[in-house]
Amino acid sequence: MNILNIYFSSTGNTVKVANTIGDVLRETNHRVDTMEVTKDMNLDILPYDFIFMGSGVYEWLPGKPLVDFLTKLRRKYAENGSIKPASPKITGKKAVVYCTYGGVHTGINEAIPAVKYMGQLFDHLGFDVIAEWYIVGEYHGKLKKFSKDGRLGNIEGRPNEADLLDVAEKVRGILLSQF
Ligand SMILES: Cc1cc2nc3c(=O)[nH]c(=O)nc-3n(C[C@H](O)[C@H](O)[C@H](O)COP(=O)(O)O)c2cc1C
Repeated sequence: MNILNIYFSSTGNTVKVANTIGDVLRETNHRVDTMEVTKDMNLDILPYDFIFMGSGVYEWLPGKPLVDFLTKLRRKYAENGSIKPASPKITGKKAVVYCTYGGVHTGINEAIPAVKYMGQLFDHLGFDVIAEWYIVGEYHGKLKKFSKDGRLGNIEGRPNEADLLDVAEKVRGILLSQF
């Protein structure tokens, strides 16, 4: 079982979630490649059977390096025939997509497009997207009030220990459901 744990984290929130995912996978004796998406990254994700992908939300979408990475992959897999009409499922290939988000203005509604966006590449390739997670993440931008007076209330320090414990439990649950 090849597991990829890939993420983009501009201000340090999503990396905490990705590290938690990696820790639980290792504790449960799974081998996992954990990596951050970088500008101009070139990675073939198809050899992986199980992929966790996460990002902070920026203007309702994943961070730009991750959007660019997904675009590059979509083009490559469309050209080489890996993305087929009707996107038939490939047995055994699964993905979990998640974001950390501030939801300052409209709550989870401004994070949903980001997670759906990430999930589409997997759906196109025939992976089963078995879970979508939304984890609250403090806003680290210039407007400090965004972490206190947004629609989710005070989100300072999130994702906090409780959020990460919740992530760890979800990963354990996913593993129990799949193996
Ligand atoms: C410039 C900027 C734009 C953001 N835009 C959104 C947004 O559109 N929707 C949202 O829910 N959160 C938004 N956020 C909050 C981040 O998504 C949240 O803090 C996230 O946890 C950051 O993850 P990262 O530190 O891993 O990049 C924004 C934060 C910044 C700094």
